[in-house]
Amino acid sequence: MLEGWGYRRVRFVLFRARVPMTDLLLRGRILSFLREPEGVEDASSCLYEEDGALLIKDGRIAAMGGFSAVAAKPAADVETIDHRPHLIMPGLIDAHVHVPQMQVIASYGAELLDWLSNYTFPEEGRFRDAQHARRVARMFVDEMMRHGTTTVAAYCSVHKASAEAFFAESGARGLMVIAGKVMMDRNAPDAVLDTPRSSYDDTKALIGAWHGKGRLRYAITPRFAITSSPEQMEMAGALVREHPECHVQTHLSENHAEIRWTEELYPEARDYTDVYQRYGLLGPRSLFGHCIHLSEREADAMSESGSVAIFCPTSNLFLGSGLFDYFRYKRRERPLRVATATDVGGGTNYSMLRTMDEAYKVIALNGPKIDPLRSFWQLTRGNAEALSLADHVGTLDVGTDADLVVLDARATPAMKLRMERAETLAEELFVLQTLGDDRAVSEVYVAGRPVKSTLAAAPA
Ligand code: GUN
Ligand code: ZN
Repeated sequence: MLEGWGYRRVRFVLFRARVPMTDLLLRGRILSFLREPEGVEDASSCLYEEDGALLIKDGRIAAMGGFSAVAAKPAADVETIDHRPHLIMPGLIDAHVHVPQMQVIASYGAELLDWLSNYTFPEEGRFRDAQHARRVARMFVDEMMRHGTTTVAAYCSVHKASAEAFFAESGARGLMVIAGKVMMDRNAPDAVLDTPRSSYDDTKALIGAWHGKGRLRYAITPRFAITSSPEQMEMAGALVREHPECHVQTHLSENHAEIRWTEELYPEARDYTDVYQRYGLLGPRSLFGHCIHLSEREADAMSESGSVAIFCPTSNLFLGSGLFDYFRYKRRERPLRVATATDVGGGTNYSMLRTMDEAYKVIALNGPKIDPLRSFWQLTRGNAEALSLADHVGTLDVGTDADLVVLDARATPAMKLRMERAETLAEELFVLQTLGDDRAVSEVYVAGRPVKSTLAAAPA
């Protein structure tokens, strides 16, 4: 443990030393959303500067606009980085992902419940070993950086050490993340079980140690109703009452067999959502993964409480869970707040560009298409609003944290060739979404520091 902490500190110092904290002036094409776009013609929903610039001071955006206006502001000691002709946008946000599933991704041939028992629970059992947890946390953050994701809402394993490793790594690298250890006390192997009491005590200790430390936030994380006894759900409810500042995250209505089993385990509940509702787990900071098969009553309960439904398209396709009806939820009389996410390792890619490509196809199978402006709003400001973080990340507003992604729509020969036929910003965004992946992420900034270009130099 001591050795791990020492190592981490040294690495943090090296990281800081490589990139001195002078002011930065970034030049490029800048794009940030002001509100949710109503369609591809809705230019007033975003701010776009063809020759734009951002001035970054102390990790925050100090000025944003046309290059000549922004460049006139800074005094001495400014380093200018020219990203033209690339797009500079707010860093991408992944609203639901599992850190201990990096070695579960690409596990063949199962629906949710078998996939959990055959692959996921055995793998998560390995995170009892704190050294393993630290190694994977480091590699997970590397993948985030490679793919342009600067904020995640993450599930760690049941082991306190797994959450400690992820918070320590994220904190050392200056990231804004929401994370929590899963609470699970039944219907899984002993190696991944806690108890109602220990899950309460460990969560309480983790909140005390990490929530609000720098940019870190804690999510109270009962894994899902199947793996939490009523006693543990009571504990989760108590934690939510005692810590209203924290998020809550869990899974809801992903798969038909899961729904049936949940209803058997909680026969007094009106439906799956009511299980969580009864224990006080719905609310504006509550993030529900999947929500594919909600009834109208359940959707009303989600809407009235301000809870967030999280759409994980690559996972829903991979596990054969179903087709999330994005516009059904967003256009109903009582709309739902919706975010998008990878759900690695049920999800099949770390890239939020790949995720929105699959989201486009799933949405199309339900009828209307999602346009590229709305897609990129969703990946940035939309997901930040859903996570209640939009005052800090998800836009290029002055005063917010300088978490940025620089996107290159000509990153591969095929993209370059396709771009010869792209005439508008919306077309370029759609090429990025449809053909892009980590290769299209030219640079990433976390709190004003370039991080993707320094990855190769990091220790393995
Ligand atoms: N439901 C409960 N746990 C999980 C998980 O790890 N992944 C997915 N996709 N669904 C879950
Ligand atoms: Zn999940």
